Amino acid sequence: MIKVVGVIGAGTMGNGIAQTFAQAGFLVRLVDVAQPMLDRARGSIEKSLSKFVEKGKLAAADRDATLGRLTTTTSLDQLSDVDYVIEAIVENAGAKTALFTSLDAIVKREAVLSSNTSSISITTLGAATTRPDRVLGMHFMNPVPLMTLVELIRGQATSAESMRTASELCAALGKTPVEAADYPGFIANRILMPMINEAIYAVMEGVGSPEAIDTVMTLGMNHPMGPLTLADFIGLDVCLAILIVLHEGLGDPKYRPCPLLRRMVAAGHLGRKSGQGFYTY
Ligand SMILES: NC(=O)c1ccc[n+]([C@@H]2O[C@H](COP(=O)([O-])OP(=O)(O)OC[C@H]3O[C@@H](n4cnc5c(N)ncnc54)[C@H](O)[C@@H]3O)[C@@H](O)[C@H]2O)c1
Repeated sequence: MIKVVGVIGAGTMGNGIAQTFAQAGFLVRLVDVAQPMLDRARGSIEKSLSKFVEKGKLAAADRDATLGRLTTTTSLDQLSDVDYVIEAIVENAGAKTALFTSLDAIVKREAVLSSNTSSISITTLGAATTRPDRVLGMHFMNPVPLMTLVELIRGQATSAESMRTASELCAALGKTPVEAADYPGFIANRILMPMINEAIYAVMEGVGSPEAIDTVMTLGMNHPMGPLTLADFIGLDVCLAILIVLHEGLGDPKYRPCPLLRRMVAAGHLGRKSGQGFYTY
């Protein structure tokens, strides 16, 4: 029975994941290396819950109870007794494998360790631990409190029982799980990122302005959000990291990250979170 969850990384995704679990009644320990990120995450969660209260979707008492179930810390050691972990740190294979090795030594044996990675091999993360049967991918969508899909990724050694546990958790969160095999980018980003990358090539080659390209995709294809607006929302650094994994892992030139994307990331233009991307925020 899962009661206490550990969420690691308090950025865009980690704070949404922590909020969603706390709202569903789980006790949540949110960990980040940076105290300012933890402070910012608590602030965003308070704001998001208050919006639900204003819209009449959440009682004020439930907002306070949700916040009461959330603790934040910079110490990984606080996760020794959690029942389930969701890792949501930076999209970097080296950082994630090092973290999984540390978690394996800290977190109790029977707990499942999951990763919110968008593209990195779950099998590799499992191999960095002594419990690869209890390592899987749990890929939430942004913004987590609103998006109902969760991609569940089964690594080469992931057990059926671990997949069942993750699936039951999704149900408890009111989310719909879809299972994907462990290949670069899984289902969601293997299909989404080439479209975003192509939209960036179209900007670079002067085919259209960001506004024109997004309008074609919203009005012409009935997408709720254009690909460049979505890229800014995801974070251009995250998009680049995913495209690099797709390109290296699948070897097909169609995944080659657009040079304009590389240039924007090098300039610190990361989209919404930095205030500048294809649009200004
Ligand atoms: N942004 C999206 O739309 C999106 C969607 C689905 C999945 N993801 C995935 O979720 C993960 C997190 O993405 P994000 O957009 O939230 O990133 P982010 O850059 O907003 O946040 C990452 C956080 O991790 C922290 N961190 C880095 N190394 C750490 C460590 N060793 N221990 C503890 N904390 C550490 C950083 O301080 C930062 O607060 C990535 O794997 C990404 O691919 C992102």
